Amino acid sequence: MQLSETMVEMDAYLEVSLLRDDPVLDQIAKRSEAEGLVPHAVTPLQAEFLAMLIRLTGAKRALEIGCLGGYSAVAMARAMSNDGYILTTEIDTRTAGVAQANIDASGFSERIDLRVGPAMEVLQHQVEAGATFDFVFIDADKVNHKNYLEMALKLARPGTVIVADNIVRGGAVLAADSTENSVRGVREMLAFARTLDGVEMTALQTVGAKGYDGMALFRVTSER
Ligand code: DHB
Ligand code: MG
Repeated sequence: MQLSETMVEMDAYLEVSLLRDDPVLDQIAKRSEAEGLVPHAVTPLQAEFLAMLIRLTGAKRALEIGCLGGYSAVAMARAMSNDGYILTTEIDTRTAGVAQANIDASGFSERIDLRVGPAMEVLQHQVEAGATFDFVFIDADKVNHKNYLEMALKLARPGTVIVADNIVRGGAVLAADSTENSVRGVREMLAFARTLDGVEMTALQTVGAKGYDGMALFRVTSER
């Protein structure tokens, strides 16, 4: 679906109206682009949305599934108190190298623990170790969206907030017969959501610099 120019201009207008100069995140965006990473990081307004959720929940332990260049990890780490901790995963070694350099340059490397490898393996280890997280941002390969939500719920405690990115994908997710693996992954996640008890759920559709997409929000209310 093609976005109107108005929607993209509006995003830029909201950005200059609501956000302050952010040399740290700007630098990460610039270096990620220069290193040829895919332009799939959250937008500045979305990064601040995540940061606000971190502050609202008072999260001290966050999990990010899908680090890419470290843009959202740094945005979230910055929103945490000094004892905050973020575990973030990246499957691609070269991408992880760029992310680690970005994280180091941001000054938040103490709070951000970047694990290189398939997210499901990293998450399985966390489950086995009995870890829990206060906040989870799911933003890796959409093929595994449902699997990541399942793991996030295993790592949750009552009060944990989980955000899943890219649940609309320009409306492609509407196609029940889609052969696109990412669309199928998102639809599996949404079908799984229907079966959940003890979780409050909603979604936001988004338009702007990254096109038409959306985020699902989950808040765990009962012991898993
Ligand atoms: C894609 C992935 C993302 O995480 C995103 O925010 C946008 C697009 C993609 O794989 O197409
Ligand atoms: Mg995303």
